[in-house]
Amino acid sequence: MLKVLVCVSGGGTNLQAIIDSIKDGRIRNAEIVRVISNNKNAYALERAKENGIAGTCICPKDYGSRDEFHRAFLDALREAAPDLIVLAGFLVVLPEEMIKEYKNRIINIHPSLIPSFCGTGFYGLKVHEKALERGVKITGATVHFVDEGTDTGPIIAQKPVQVKEDDTPETLQKRVMEEAEWIILPQAIDWIANGMIEVKEGRCRFLS
Ligand code: GRF
Repeated sequence: MLKVLVCVSGGGTNLQAIIDSIKDGRIRNAEIVRVISNNKNAYALERAKENGIAGTCICPKDYGSRDEFHRAFLDALREAAPDLIVLAGFLVVLPEEMIKEYKNRIINIHPSLIPSFCGTGFYGLKVHEKALERGVKITGATVHFVDEGTDTGPIIAQKPVQVKEDDTPETLQKRVMEEAEWIILPQAIDWIANGMIEVKEGRCRFLS
């Protein structure tokens, strides 16, 4: 049984997709052991509570320094001892130590088809604003392993979404979530929980 820890900062719709997918069997052999947020007002914590999942808020402003916050965050991770960490809209830069300790065991959902519209400063609505500004006809979402860079780790899954003429950043964000994020994030967790993929030479591939 894969022990999954989900890190959140906002509404938690991707967390909800994971919860629902475990319930309906789209994700096999996995359980969410803890939800951690940096934002005590994150509705994602409410979703965890409603589903009987332990939720913890580790807020940077409750600590005297970034290092103290990182220490508390790492202690909470170690206490939960997850096999996989899922960043589902988590808006905190991870400590280097964590990325090293959990190499190829941290995944992130990004609301574009990486390598487009990603990297520092590309998060939330900003991603969709830039996609509309550029006039792309197709966008989508990507699940990738987290490495030392920003949105640069091995890609696990991607799903395209049509951009509509009358899209606003908000309507596009909603469709990318509904048609891509909420599908490929659970899918990636199921593949990992059932030993279906590996990372080789920096690229993710299915095990035959
Ligand atoms: C999603 O759009 C995700 O792609 C991005 O942050 C947002 C999180 O939304 N990383 P939610 O908290 O899962 O609703």
